[in-house]
Amino acid sequence: MKKIVVLTGAGISAESGIKTFRDSDGLWEEYRIEDVATFDAWLKNRNLVLDFYNQRRKQLLECSPNAAHYALAALEKKYDVQIITQNIDDLHEKAGSTKILHLHGELKKARSTVDDNLIYDIEGWELKKGERCEKGSQLRPHVVWFGEAVPNIVPASQLSSKADIYLVIGTSLNVYPAAGLLNYVPANVPKYLIDPNGVAVAGTRNLTIIKEKAGKGVTELVEKLLND
Ligand code: OAD
Repeated sequence: MKKIVVLTGAGISAESGIKTFRDSDGLWEEYRIEDVATFDAWLKNRNLVLDFYNQRRKQLLECSPNAAHYALAALEKKYDVQIITQNIDDLHEKAGSTKILHLHGELKKARSTVDDNLIYDIEGWELKKGERCEKGSQLRPHVVWFGEAVPNIVPASQLSSKADIYLVIGTSLNVYPAAGLLNYVPANVPKYLIDPNGVAVAGTRNLTIIKEKAGKGVTELVEKLLND
């Protein structure tokens, strides 16, 4: 079975009603990264950080996968599909994809602040001040903040180097190290980038750019790949 590796970003979930970060109505227009998505913010203003992710989680509970998520799940009929997502939502899981690597964490999980291995499911939408891990530390959102290490970048780069076909969907490729994953994909491998707006990827060989929203662009590409 051929291996398809798919790198997804916020754009794939846009049609499910989740805001992207850097579009004109994106989250980083409304919030300052340094106020809600850094460890420093967590130390200085825990309530604001908890509230920011609680609101995201509350909203996620009302969202469903869209045609693009479902099309990627359907691609497993013919290919070994590995998804690498920068998204912290669970829409790939809900659509039925089976191999998903989250680079930036998972919104529906909480993590100990003294032991990174202690990870818990969050019931409902709210993670509260005073909720502790079994070692007694306050639980934090299980997400990667700016300035923090991205532990899953190592398996993600290995997976990218093994792809037979590579898809990039709905990411501005602004945030490293995720944005550098394309560099691990061998030059001869066919690559497809789906995004309604242009994304700068100078120097990438064998790249087809599909300027469509994910719902249409991914569905059509998956149809083609299933018929190949
Ligand atoms: P961005 O908000 O930076 O980029 C979203 C991309 O999706 C843009 O290129 C849009 O053109 C595109 N887009 C918008 N609507 C779309 C649609 N319907 N279909 C397909 N594409 C669409 O989001 P990311 O690149 O995912 O990290 O951002 C990367 C990281 O930056 C996030 O994981 C998050 C953020 O800060 C952390 O919080 C650590």
